[in-house]
Amino acid sequence: MNRQPLRLAIMEAMRILEAAGVSSPRTDAELIAAHVLGVERGRLPLVPLVDPAVVDAIGQMVAQRAKRVPLQHLVGWAALGDITVDVGPGVFVPRPETELLLEWGLKLLKGREYPVVVDLCTGSGALALAVAHARPDAVVYAVDIDPTALAWARHNAELRAAAGDSRIRLYSGDISDSAMFAELDGLVDLVLCNPPYVPEGTWVPPEVAEHDPAHAVFAEESGLAVIRHAVTVAARLLRPGGGLAIEHDDTHVAAVPSLVRARRVLTDVEDHPDLTGRPRFVTALRG
Ligand SMILES: C[S@@+](CC[C@H](N)C(=O)[O-])C[C@H]1O[C@@H](n2cnc3c(N)ncnc32)[C@H](O)[C@@H]1O
Repeated sequence: MNRQPLRLAIMEAMRILEAAGVSSPRTDAELIAAHVLGVERGRLPLVPLVDPAVVDAIGQMVAQRAKRVPLQHLVGWAALGDITVDVGPGVFVPRPETELLLEWGLKLLKGREYPVVVDLCTGSGALALAVAHARPDAVVYAVDIDPTALAWARHNAELRAAAGDSRIRLYSGDISDSAMFAELDGLVDLVLCNPPYVPEGTWVPPEVAEHDPAHAVFAEESGLAVIRHAVTVAARLLRPGGGLAIEHDDTHVAAVPSLVRARRVLTDVEDHPDLTGRPRFVTALRG
């Protein structure tokens, strides 16, 4: 059997992915190779030669990626904070854009025992589960309107519970419903929300247009429709001193802080960039 240099297979994968318009061909080629080999990406240099079957398997995944199937659907997972969640068709893939929002929320919880946390628009459950992992004493509630997303969230919650994390409380619901979580009014330490916020009609890459559910990405009213409800719910749920973080489109740098400021009970309103420096989330405290 003719073993072949892995380096050549990765270079060929990069060439195909670049030609297909994939924005990070090296990263994706290396992550695909690492997935096929079952090793960490950083350990690829320790694998100089591979069997033809491995080259074939890499080629098949690269062909899928070249059709702009998201890398996370191919490998089956996405990372947020210190956890990974399973993802696939029918659920939004958690993004690195959300990392700093999570970090802000966890920082706010420092020094608070048994905090109550609500994740509005939970999708795969990533934010809620990342909080439950980082803060085993937290009581974490999460809601989504979409049954398929909730099925993924339930599956991920089972995986995390099997790994030893605390269980989260998952709800099916619409955050525009004024009775949503009414039993928690004034009791919540932290509300996190990564809602659909891309203004309708905005161009998005094929990975998003063809694989993320449209109702998880786009929102009416120039992207503000669901954010508006999240602000209303947060103002109602938060206890004095509690905090809110909502992700938004980079075109919302003025609109979302002003929506939050319009609720008199919310103070210390600040907008924050994501890891790439784009305006990405607003935070506020309940006065
Ligand atoms: C951008 S995805 C975010 C998923 C997750 N928070 C994350 O960061 O990966 C937005 C989610 O909001 C849900 N959603 C949209 N409108 C909603 C509403 N009115 N009430 C509750 N969930 C909603 C969608 O089903 C989708 O799962």
